Amino acid sequence: MNTSPHTHAFIPQQQDPFGPRFVTNRPEREPECRVICLSNQKGGVAKTTTTMNLGAALTELGNRVLVVDLDPQSNLTMSFGIDVENLPKSIFDVLVHRLAIEHNIHKTPECDIAVASIDLAGAELALSSMIGRERMLEKALAPVKKDYDYILIDTPPSLGLLTVNAFTASDEVIVPVQAEYLSLRGLVQLDNTLQVIREHLNPKVRIGGVLITMYDGRTIHSREATELLLQNYGDRVMKVRIKKTIRLAEAPVQGSSVLTYESNGTAAAQYRELAQEVVARVEQAV
Ligand SMILES: Nc1ncnc2c1ncn2[C@@H]1O[C@H](COP(=O)(O)OP(=O)(O)O)[C@@H](O)[C@H]1O
Ligand SMILES: [Mg+2]
Repeated sequence: MNTSPHTHAFIPQQQDPFGPRFVTNRPEREPECRVICLSNQKGGVAKTTTTMNLGAALTELGNRVLVVDLDPQSNLTMSFGIDVENLPKSIFDVLVHRLAIEHNIHKTPECDIAVASIDLAGAELALSSMIGRERMLEKALAPVKKDYDYILIDTPPSLGLLTVNAFTASDEVIVPVQAEYLSLRGLVQLDNTLQVIREHLNPKVRIGGVLITMYDGRTIHSREATELLLQNYGDRVMKVRIKKTIRLAEAPVQGSSVLTYESNGTAAAQYRELAQEVVARVEQAV
């Protein structure tokens, strides 16, 4: 006889005690896809590195993940070991020629990726005369959102039309920054751009997180700049800081994330922590 005070009398004895007690009459909700854009108009702040490693870490947590390469430099595509010279299609065709994005998605063990090649450099010009030019990515992603829990968009180092497409398609923006005074100025500019996007294109998009990357806590400047970021962005600054390590530069040479390249290393642990923070924030927001 099960005498546990937490077990309701109507649960049959042999049943898994964690089963029926949690059944409610609420209708099953479709799990929603969260679209997150990694953006900063400054280059070399770890947008691409974060897209790949956060993507891999979210997959590891059991999520279905798509990463989208929206940078003509195609660094994200290359980081997965994909030969960008011989791609039959690219995200350019999706944005400009309305190719269904499924035809541009490559499957990898770490996550799915919508690939880019250098032809994307012509997209800003090609899009500029099109009606609905800011919504091309949003429209392209709509049919595949049901297939993913997270879509992460890597953006070029500018606030041009490609980045505007990313902002319009996203629920939130995570901004990788280095702990430097000048980063703060860039953040203000990004915030102003997002204000305009909210007014005209996507009322929900906002800076959801500021991620300190390439952190070197040994310098006073790093620590002071971090303090300034915390004062201005409070709990939007992600708790985890990604430390400076050569491992993050080495991993893409092998075509893999640092979670595969050095699974037990510090960088892998930090990106896993980031994934957990991102998931926790999304759950809070729902
Ligand atoms: N935490 C880190 N420590 C050391 N190097 C890093 C770190 N994160 C990224 N890098 C390296 O810095 C360079 C720029 O990163 P990247 O992700 O390409 O930046 P972005 O996409 O913002 O231009 C790359 O060579 C990358 O491997
Ligand atoms: Mg990049």
